[in-house]
Amino acid sequence: MSTQSLYKVPSEIAANAHINEEKYKKMYQESIVNPEGFWREHGQRIDWIKPFTKVKKTSFDDHNLSINWFYDGTLNASANCLDRHLEKYSDKVAIIWEGDDAKDQRTITYGELHKDVCKFANALRSQGVRRGDVVTVYMPMVPEAAVVMLACARIGAVHSVVFGGFSPDSIASRVIDGNSKVIVTADEGVRAGRIIPLKANIDEALSHPDVTCVERVIVLERTGGDVNWEEGRDIKWDTVMETASEHCVPEEMGAEDPLFLLYTSGSTGNPKGVLHTTGGYMVYASMTHEYVFDYKDGEVYWCTADVGWITGHSYMVYGPLANGATVLIHEGVPNYPTPSRLGEIVDRHKVNILYTAPTLIRALMAEGKEQFDKFDGSSLRIMGSVGEPINPEAWRWYNEVIGHEQCPIVDTWWQTETGGILISPLPGAIDTKPGSATRPFFGVQPALVDNMGNIIEGAAEGNLVILDSWPGQMRTVFGDHDRFALTYFKTFRGMYFTGDGAKRDEDGYYWITGRVDDVINVSGHRLGTAEVESALVSHESVAEAAVVGYPHDIKGQGIYAYVTLTRGTVESEELRQDLRKWVRKEIGALATPDLIQWAGGLPKTRSGKIMRRFLRKIAANEVTNLGDSSTLADPAVIDVLIESRLNRS
Ligand code: WTA
Repeated sequence: MSTQSLYKVPSEIAANAHINEEKYKKMYQESIVNPEGFWREHGQRIDWIKPFTKVKKTSFDDHNLSINWFYDGTLNASANCLDRHLEKYSDKVAIIWEGDDAKDQRTITYGELHKDVCKFANALRSQGVRRGDVVTVYMPMVPEAAVVMLACARIGAVHSVVFGGFSPDSIASRVIDGNSKVIVTADEGVRAGRIIPLKANIDEALSHPDVTCVERVIVLERTGGDVNWEEGRDIKWDTVMETASEHCVPEEMGAEDPLFLLYTSGSTGNPKGVLHTTGGYMVYASMTHEYVFDYKDGEVYWCTADVGWITGHSYMVYGPLANGATVLIHEGVPNYPTPSRLGEIVDRHKVNILYTAPTLIRALMAEGKEQFDKFDGSSLRIMGSVGEPINPEAWRWYNEVIGHEQCPIVDTWWQTETGGILISPLPGAIDTKPGSATRPFFGVQPALVDNMGNIIEGAAEGNLVILDSWPGQMRTVFGDHDRFALTYFKTFRGMYFTGDGAKRDEDGYYWITGRVDDVINVSGHRLGTAEVESALVSHESVAEAAVVGYPHDIKGQGIYAYVTLTRGTVESEELRQDLRKWVRKEIGALATPDLIQWAGGLPKTRSGKIMRRFLRKIAANEVTNLGDSSTLADPAVIDVLIESRLNRS
């Protein structure tokens, strides 16, 4: 990388930042040489009921996996986000909420949030929720979503938030996996002027004959729209809150007691329930929030992620609230009703820290700079990016048009599994390069390995692994510890495998190149190709399907499906639309294939394995150098697929 592409840390940021370059180097070194001592010190940043004496007991040996942090301490996550701020900050705004319609505005102080959380915690108890129970949460982007999460944490229940864009089938499989007795939802959500039928989706999910565990559905009124009501099962939010007491002593939880479950896609099978525990997660989420965004007391912080994703958990709820920040929650999308909405929100609420995703930046970019002519943006100090690699062009546009070349950009690489940010610049410490997530956070030891698992040193490209545990790491796949070991620790023995590929340059900066497994990343949303395939083949007209990602200007990756129809079925545009609708219904809108190519046959080895690398290349319109096809049972299949490929750009 030439030094021309280096963006220096602005000097006034360096002078006032929590961490400057020298401090970063010293602390990083210490965190690796003496993790015990380092985390013993930084584990104190949160409030413990019973202080921990043990810091770290971890092993990445797949036969003897163990991940334990601060494990003899006790605490409560909601008390860390609320109670501990009350003395000083009872009247400080915890949440600024702006509705989909900008006329809808609310502010909630820490005092009020505490009261609501206590009441809802008691309400959950009154509906039979006990410590350790899984509560499914299917909510729009309203402050009550955070209230529910914190209320669960308060009584030691485990929340499992399901993104509002997922279908009834997806809800059902998560409810069954978590054996959830109670669901919290709203009548309807509102997003970009459209109504999302949340309660109707829950009703449909619960009509699934295999869902037998649910006893109660608590329904918040968001729109007042007409919804079905099942007496005895459904109960209104206002009804359960009416009689609930404002006093609720936080449960004393072990550091390694579960805090939440969040399902995420992998390269095989159904989405996995990623389990995060309490102590290490809270330490890591709050510490990364403070240092990566250089968060300072009194700042307004806006993360555009939906609460249904890990970013919404760690950097909209737990991290910033543990730090006593003022968090902006926006119900809708930042480019509705016009692309200027993002700038209007920043200016209206004097946002200091903005955390968003490359897909949004590219969508805004496509609308043209003029959309931001009236944007002031002088409140902004730090800007973040997350979810997928950010292309240098989008990085520069973000820097120029939104940041006015005054705001360091933190390109944060991490995963649902990691709980918090692992690789990112720190604004006052690390010069940035457009497209690079730069350097590891404290305690994080990334490495690159070749396909045999040999560590490669220096400037190189390889599979990205992490060599030792960090406190925010997931602890298991809910109900399937073997799958946890198999997925993350067996590919490369003794290392955590991220599923991502990366390059490291001569300055030691990391550049994430994207997934190296069968996971695709559509607008920052993870999707397993196997999930889309199994949705497709469950359609009566589909005999076989293979799904791959292909480069997409706005979404990063689009979904490209090769479909073989059952004998006698006629290919038609109507059927194509039908299949798109089908996948949407099975999984959710985010899984809808962008392109469906009819395939008389798929490239397979003699033993019947689909050779995806050919399919990826054809979908990407890279058809000149496909590589060796001699192992294929029928190499002629390739020519036919090339001939009728759908992406010619
Ligand atoms: C990708 C989201 C490049 C990556 C927090 C990872 C990124 C997957 C970045 C996790 C980034 C996330 N640069 N790639 N800054 N951030 N990714 O679990 O492929 O929804 O493995 O977590 O997103 O997606 P997940």
